Amino acid sequence: MKLTIIGTGYVGLVTGTCFAEVGHQVICVDKDAEKVKVLQSGGMPIYEPGLRELVDKNVKAGRLSFTNSTAEGVAKSDVIFIAVPTPPMSDGSVDLSFMEGVSREIAQNMTSYKIVVDKSTVPVNTGDKVAETIKRYCKAKVDFDVVSNPEFLREGFAVEDFMKPDRVVIGVRSQRPVAAMRSTYEPFNAPIIVTDINSAELIKHAANSFLALKISYINAISVICEASGANVQEVANGMGMDTRIGRRFLDAGLGFGGSCFPKDLSAFIKISEQLGYDFRLLKEVQQINSSQMERFVKKITDTLWVLKDKTIGVLGLAFKQNTDDVRLSPAIDLCLHLQKEGAKLRVYDPQAMGKARAVLKDVTFVEDMNDVAEGCDALVVATEWPEFKNLDLEKARRALTHPILFDGRNMFDVKEMEKIGFIYKSVGR
Ligand code: UDX
Repeated sequence: MKLTIIGTGYVGLVTGTCFAEVGHQVICVDKDAEKVKVLQSGGMPIYEPGLRELVDKNVKAGRLSFTNSTAEGVAKSDVIFIAVPTPPMSDGSVDLSFMEGVSREIAQNMTSYKIVVDKSTVPVNTGDKVAETIKRYCKAKVDFDVVSNPEFLREGFAVEDFMKPDRVVIGVRSQRPVAAMRSTYEPFNAPIIVTDINSAELIKHAANSFLALKISYINAISVICEASGANVQEVANGMGMDTRIGRRFLDAGLGFGGSCFPKDLSAFIKISEQLGYDFRLLKEVQQINSSQMERFVKKITDTLWVLKDKTIGVLGLAFKQNTDDVRLSPAIDLCLHLQKEGAKLRVYDPQAMGKARAVLKDVTFVEDMNDVAEGCDALVVATEWPEFKNLDLEKARRALTHPILFDGRNMFDVKEMEKIGFIYKSVGR
């Protein structure tokens, strides 16, 4: 298939690259000329495991190219994917101006039948608006179809998620684009759900909100565990073995962050409100998420009492493992809380220090995780990077002025930590 992807952010770049990897001919379009130059010269604007190698391979094979010309992208392909940002506005609703702009540009450049596929996360009914816009701005009055094909990839595992999807959702208004969409996804051997556009759009918000709900649920359980002497990991394991529930997304901690869950929750609450439903359940999910952070900060202040002039080492700045993304990162939020209380910070992250420098001021960035504890009054684990399990705990205990470790991601075994001599406080255990 000849495919064009408009927008080379996390979703667009992974989508284009993985489509090329399975043999399609792909053009990635971005209006940011600098970014296109970086990509054309073999650079990589984001950190995503495995992506750089795949981009190199497919560019060399002649299946993947980059341009900032939408006209070229529209002219050369039959299927055009829109993967542009849909950022939140101050009231929680979604800013669809990029969607609208790209829809117009596609329309103005269309001279033959095109399938326009929305991959960005959008409110239900957006497909109708895209179709109206294309119809209005298409000078040549050519035929087209709008398709909704939401993306479920996780940052840090994006390539893996794209290559091995649990399911592919395709929302259509007519049968005409179905065969082409099936061919596009056929190499992935995944179940394909063909449904109407509104349902496809809703699947994305409903799924993400449910996952966020699952995390808040286990975080609420962690509060009960702490109050009753139970262990939230044991509870999660026992719950998770019920195949109706499943163990994934039942890890208690500092709460969820990132560029998707917080935004999608607010958007879904707003969309529901506009449709006449007060989604109080999801408001509570948000509430639990923010109180989880407050409770953790309180755990630190209850132990250290006054934070002013104390030094705290923080392991992890990314919003989760395997990414350099610090957008709405609970780890950054925690750092800001600690700074507000007057603490000095020594911080480390395997990938996110570059991006963290833009949002964290007056902290010491440490290049080796085993040096973070040096001279600190306490150490905090804020992101679930697997390498933190290999921390030299003996060294950290000796380096700390007091052997106190707050584990916001339940990385270590409670008994083991106490045996080493730590005052060890984690979440829900
Ligand atoms: C999410 C969805 O998983 C993905 O399907 C969608 O397309 C985009 O949003 P992402 O934001 O990349 O992906 O991260 P994810 O791995 O889902 O984690 C989100 C947040 O939840 C992170 O802050 C993570 O630390 C937290 N989390 C996750 C928990 O606190 N506990 C868990 O059990 C799982």
